[in-house]
Amino acid sequence: MRVLAVWGVSLVGVSLMLVGAKFTARATPAYSVSDLPKTRGDCQTCHPNEARDWAESRHAAAWESETFAQASRNRTLKMCLPCHAPEPILHKGFGEHPALRNDERAHGIDCISCHQDANGAYHGTLGTQTDAHPTVKNEKFGTVEMCATCHEIFGTVDWYKQSEWGKDPHGCVNCHMPVVERPIAMGEGLPARKARVHKFEGATPEMFQKGVKISHERRDDLLQIKLESVWVGHTVPTGPEYVVAIVEARFMRGDTEVGKHQTLLADNTAIDGNDTRLKPGERRVIRTPIPEGATHAVVRVLHKRNRDLPDEQARILYEAEVRW
Ligand code: HEC
Ligand code: HEC
Ligand code: HEC
Ligand code: HEC
Ligand code: HEC
Repeated sequence: MRVLAVWGVSLVGVSLMLVGAKFTARATPAYSVSDLPKTRGDCQTCHPNEARDWAESRHAAAWESETFAQASRNRTLKMCLPCHAPEPILHKGFGEHPALRNDERAHGIDCISCHQDANGAYHGTLGTQTDAHPTVKNEKFGTVEMCATCHEIFGTVDWYKQSEWGKDPHGCVNCHMPVVERPIAMGEGLPARKARVHKFEGATPEMFQKGVKISHERRDDLLQIKLESVWVGHTVPTGPEYVVAIVEARFMRGDTEVGKHQTLLADNTAIDGNDTRLKPGERRVIRTPIPEGATHAVVRVLHKRNRDLPDEQARILYEAEVRW
């Protein structure tokens, strides 16, 4: 995270690092604490893995995101702000939209937003005890109910419940927070535990290609692109109507583009009544005529967080060349 990295270590950070030192007595950290992303509460001093993962996540970007700024009129539309820089969700409880917080909004959805309760204790499911801070074992932590607090408004959770994973109370984290065995804090003698990766990977090439199988072939004068949603517990894409994906075929003669065809996967219910997103388990075949003289095609899947972005600024989730 660009912004988080330059903030450096605050005074609170330094004092907490000294507290942290007690727990890292003989362990030699393989990094310098000041290189870690800064978090509110300085969790990174003892939980470096979670902090590094989280800094790469969209949760960390939720407030600073340029596409969010555009869509929320430079963060002035009040109804848009709370989920993108929330007070701890445990204050109102899972299922209630959180309140907007006043401090350090640039951190977006951070450690404290998800873990801290009104008494300053940190919730999790592992039942650990430590002198560092109070912990609470909460069986609801990490359930679909928790993620739904913010993700239900765009129908992600409704689609999830109709999907083949829909009965699993941990379905969201099982796909988006894979389990790794490792110590969950810096400290002498702490055992490896079942920790969960905090990158919250969503619309990335790795996740997309795991979730959606793509094949393509030439059939006479048609190019046929097949998509199958095999491991996605909701539509592709999911989220507010600003978020779209595009399946694109560019036809080439040598280096020259001789034709282009795009299929939009988007929630257009409010515009023309159509929802063209790929549903869980759905197979779809897109057929496009091959222009005369084309020697090959480049097939891509683009992802935009705001449909008004030019194609050049889209994220490429998939790219392949089809020759004939
Ligand atoms: C001074 C070191 C230190 C700091 C700072 C610290 N923690 Fe911890 N935390 C620990 C230790 C040690 C454990 C227990 C590790 C174990 O037993 O494996 C722990 C456990 C946890 C757990 C696991 C709860 C469970 O049992 O499921 C959570 C969640 C947690 N911390 C969150 C945070 C958050 C959020 C912050 C920052 C706001 C933070 N911690 C700051 C040392 C720290
Ligand atoms: C979007 C909510 C969310 C955010 C933000 C978040 N966590 Fe977590 N955290 C979780 C969930 C969910 C789990 C796993 C619960 C389970 O199934 O055991 C978890 C687990 C943990 C644990 C237990 C060990 C592990 O890695 O699974 C620690 C420690 C922890 N988080 C610390 C942090 C720290 C430090 C930050 C900020 C750098 C952070 N979390 C940010 C939701 C969050
Ligand atoms: C406090 C509200 C809130 C909670 C709670 C929350 N999220 Fe999010 N989540 C967001 C927002 C807002 C974004 C979009 C951030 C952005 O891109 O601006 C997001 C983004 C994501 C993304 C990445 C989307 C992408 O574009 O790649 C994933 C995956 C995700 N969340 C999963 C989860 C899971 C799993 C949980 C439950 C453990 C959870 N979230 C809990 C608000 C929340
Ligand atoms: C079976 C695995 C699976 C389950 C269950 C699942 N997801 Fe996903 N999710 C994926 C894959 C794969 C992607 C990447 C494809 C895509 O962009 O839609 C993804 C993408 C996302 C995105 C980014 C969407 C976009 O297009 O920008 C968000 C947000 C998200 N998931 C949240 C959730 C939440 C919340 C839950 C639980 C209600 C959940 N997911 C359940 C596999 C899963
Ligand atoms: C109830 C919580 C909540 C509220 C309120 C909310 N959002 Fe979000 N927002 C989310 C979540 C969750 C995601 C992630 C969705 C996904 O990718 O599936 C998100 C993602 C986004 C994205 C795409 C990611 C990005 O950073 O570009 C944009 C744009 C966005 N929201 C704009 C808005 C606007 C504009 C409003 C007000 C009209 C708003 N949001 C209100 C929860 C919320």
